[in-house]
Amino acid sequence: MSNSSMVTATEHEYVLVLNGPNLNLLGSREPGVYGATTLADIVADLVACARGADPPLRLEHLQSNHEGVLVDAIQQLGPGSVGIIINPAALTHYSIAVRDALVAVNVPTVEVHLSNIHAREEFRHHSVIAPVVLGQIAGLGPDGYRLALQYLLGRRASSKANR
Ligand code: DQA
Repeated sequence: MSNSSMVTATEHEYVLVLNGPNLNLLGSREPGVYGATTLADIVADLVACARGADPPLRLEHLQSNHEGVLVDAIQQLGPGSVGIIINPAALTHYSIAVRDALVAVNVPTVEVHLSNIHAREEFRHHSVIAPVVLGQIAGLGPDGYRLALQYLLGRRASSKANR
């Protein structure tokens, strides 16, 4: 058997991780609110966690400051994914386009925020994304991303077991 034919279907599985505007600045952006961890650190942790899963899976990560780029990624990469982890950043509070894209692809999705948006300015309390996703994790810093991934991994395992 050649190496290529030994690749199992699960190795093609991936979780889509999306980060919105200004999250590329993590580490230097308002460290009192968002902490010192960079986005590269967060993604590296998620990659390690995904690789360590049984069976392992890949991570597709995209950060963009542009709403349409995130909508394109949801449309193009969402349907083939095991699930989506999204921190829409400021788009959380007003992007009907991101919300509609998530509804359209209908993939298990977890919304993540580093800060506790409910304890901050009033305009951050409302998420137009929250009603259309499985759940929201806010205020747990970078751990929120890992918890979201662990949740999606558990969901994948139980959906396989029920097949
Ligand atoms: C954020 C919270 C948003 O209100 C803000 O616009 C962000 C980051 C968070 O991760 O805490 O850019 O999504």
